[in-house]
Amino acid sequence: MSLFGKRAEKSVSLPEDPGERRQLTVLFYDVVGSTSLVDSNDPEELRAALNLIHVAARSILSEHGGSLEQIMGDGGIAHFGYPVSSEDAALSAVQSALALLDARSGISGAPNIHIGIATGVVVLSDDTGSAVGGRLGAIGAAPNLAARLESASGVNQVLVNQSTYAMTCRAIDYQPVDDLNLKGFPDVTRAWRPVAMRPAESRFQRDRDSSSPLIGRVDEVAQLRAAWARARKGDGSAILIEGEPGVGKSRIVSELANHVGECRTILLQCQPRTQGEALSSIIRMYDRAHEEAGDPALANAAVRTAERIGALEDDISLGPETRRTAIVNAVADGFLGLAEAQPLLMLAEDLHWADEVTLAVLRRLGRDIGGRSILILATSRPEANLNGELAAFSDLSLSPVGAKEAYALIEAAAPGALTQATCDWIVKKADGNPLFLLELTAYASDPEAANGHLTDISGANVMSLRDLLATRLESAGRA
Ligand SMILES: Nc1ncnc2c1ncn2[C@@H]1O[C@H](COP(=O)(O)OP(=O)(O)O)[C@@H](O)[C@H]1O
Ligand SMILES: [Mg+2]
Repeated sequence: MSLFGKRAEKSVSLPEDPGERRQLTVLFYDVVGSTSLVDSNDPEELRAALNLIHVAARSILSEHGGSLEQIMGDGGIAHFGYPVSSEDAALSAVQSALALLDARSGISGAPNIHIGIATGVVVLSDDTGSAVGGRLGAIGAAPNLAARLESASGVNQVLVNQSTYAMTCRAIDYQPVDDLNLKGFPDVTRAWRPVAMRPAESRFQRDRDSSSPLIGRVDEVAQLRAAWARARKGDGSAILIEGEPGVGKSRIVSELANHVGECRTILLQCQPRTQGEALSSIIRMYDRAHEEAGDPALANAAVRTAERIGALEDDISLGPETRRTAIVNAVADGFLGLAEAQPLLMLAEDLHWADEVTLAVLRRLGRDIGGRSILILATSRPEANLNGELAAFSDLSLSPVGAKEAYALIEAAAPGALTQATCDWIVKKADGNPLFLLELTAYASDPEAANGHLTDISGANVMSLRDLLATRLESAGRA
């Protein structure tokens, strides 16, 4: 079983014992210059102004999966990645900070704020019995660092520490800032200022781009190629590729997508926390096609589909079920129409995050693509259990790579750089997960980061890839 699997099982339970070691992202927000606000304002007015921020913070932070641990007068602390562990806790925290600033600028009378975010391994101690009652204290550098970064950050700005930056820099545009000398931190601290989110598709695309050669997966890629060859000839099909995070689902999809010849490729990239938004990945794809207008037929389909959905939504004679079915059919028909002029390769990535309506569209397409020039390649984590839901899709289950491939991956990523013993250790730890293999290899072959810590790490009870990464990034930041 992969380390991710073990992590996932643990994710919703409370720590079994006081003192659990976890990776946590801590966010501090605070009103700028609240002491001078006290002097110049009526206390009631000040309280009302602060309340505007706290109310916005409470809803925005929790919307992004954070838990607001404490509100202290003019500021607050939120934890991301606890109690429910989340792979993208750091990203959620930065997103929520940007959203909070955005919301603030739209609230009349809201005071200026600043925000600090830090990610690190902390020890969570359950002080249920203490006077504070029921709070989980986080002990580690991250909470203090987040507080210091918050004070150092500019008005209506955010600062994040190096590990938060490293975990989110593919998804967020950052500006570098000068190294900081922070109270309580003897070394200078590197910090970054997040500016804006990048569009989802370009973020996930980067996950896919890889200069390293594809190792193994010969049968799987051959199966995809054969399906594509049939689809081009008008014999369409749909395949659901299932596997743990990091096992290589996107990699084999891009292996095909990079060699398809003349055709149209559509990417539907599902994202975390969008299950409640009907058709979100399809709408995003169409919006982009419309904006970029690089493919006139696709831009047209975007407009037509939007119009049909709009008309169905406005039609008050329809009951909710009938309306939903009609919308699903309209969207599916749009895709079938596109395939008439040119073969269509449709990539539906990370369906474990897909909303119901998107799944209904795919279900309908799965039933109707026989005899059409379409290949649908969908990816999902196994726990979403979509094979029943997408019964017309054939199932391709990606297992971890074998030991031979694991050693080959390490060698390709860091030729001749590691000792046999280190390679053995990585292969054992990574459980055949290519992402984990690559991350551990990068860790072990970066002498600055490794710096003799590797043996410490292997001895320590490192629970997850994320913990390991945080440790690696933090030692890199200090060096
Ligand atoms: N067979 C492989 N050969 C080389 N690199 C691989 C292979 N499988 C996965 N990788 C690399 O491992 C990382 C994780 O793979 P990815 O396809 O993103 O996983 P998933 O989509 O299942 O989460 C990527 O950097 C990818 O390039
Ligand atoms: Mg993927």
